[in-house]
Amino acid sequence: MQRFGIDIGGTGIKGAPVDIARGELAEPRWRILTPQPATPEAMAGPVADLVKHFGWQGPVGAAFPAVIKNGVARSAANVDQAWIGTDVSAALSTATGCPVTVLNDADAAGVAEMTYGVGRDARGLVILCTLGTGIGSAMFLNGELVPNTELGHLEIDGVDAELRASDAARDREGLSWSHYSRRLDRYLQTLEKLFSPDLFIIGGGASKKSEKFLPRLNLQTQTIPAALLNNAGIVGAALAAVPATGAPGDDSPPPPGADGFHDQEVRLAGAPA
Ligand code: BGC
Repeated sequence: MQRFGIDIGGTGIKGAPVDIARGELAEPRWRILTPQPATPEAMAGPVADLVKHFGWQGPVGAAFPAVIKNGVARSAANVDQAWIGTDVSAALSTATGCPVTVLNDADAAGVAEMTYGVGRDARGLVILCTLGTGIGSAMFLNGELVPNTELGHLEIDGVDAELRASDAARDREGLSWSHYSRRLDRYLQTLEKLFSPDLFIIGGGASKKSEKFLPRLNLQTQTIPAALLNNAGIVGAALAAVPATGAPGDDSPPPPGADGFHDQEVRLAGAPA
C-alpha cells in the first residue's frame, strides 16, 4: 500500500509516495522552496505541483507547521499568519484534487519514529523534538500521541525557545556547536524538569548532525537521534492518510498504528500476539 506524504515547512515543501508497510519512501522525494510570504494562496500551487510531479492520485497526508484541530490551523509561527483559521485540509484538497489529511509536522515526524523508527518499542513518556526552522514537539504516552504540544514555544528567560535553540537560530547567529549545545541543553533540561520524560528523540534537520551536539548535553533522560532523519515528516504524513481498515479496494493489511495512532496491540511490549 502506498500513500502520498507531504512535509510542509517554513523553508521547504517536500513530498513523495510512501510504502506504508515499510515506512520508506517509494520514490526519491521532491523538494520545492516555500514561497515567501508563505500565504495560503502562494503555497497551494507548489503543493499541487508536488503531487502532480509524481502523477499521484489518491489519499494524501500533509504535515503542517501549526496547531491543527480538525484540519484547521490554529497557529502560524513560520508560515504566514493568514493560515490561522484556514481549513488546511480543505484548501489542499481543492489545490491537489486529492483527499488531504493534515496534522502538525512534529506530530507527523513523531508518529513515523514511533511506528517505524527508534521509538518503536519505547514505553512511558517520549518527547520528540524537531530542530529545524522552528522547534516542533511530539509527545507520546505509552505509544499514544498527545497532539499539538507546541513545546518549541516554551518561554525561557522571557524568550520563545525556538528563537534561540532551533537549527535556524544556530545558523542565523553563526553559533559554534559548543555554544549551540549549551542553548539546547538549557531547553531540554527545562523540558526534563517539567515532564520527567523517559526518552528524548531528536529529529528535524539538525538530527543529521547529532554527533556534534548530543555528546555535549547534560541530561538525565536518554537522548537519541531520530532514525528516519529528514523523511520522518513525509512518512508520518502518509501514515495519517491511511484509514483504519485500508482504502476501499485495497486489501493490504493496515500498517502498525494506522488507525489514527491508537493501535495499542502493536505497541504493548510483551503483549501476547
Ligand atoms: C510551530 C509548530 C511546528 C514547529 C516545527 C513551530 O514554530 O509552532 O507547530 O511543529 O515550528 O515546524
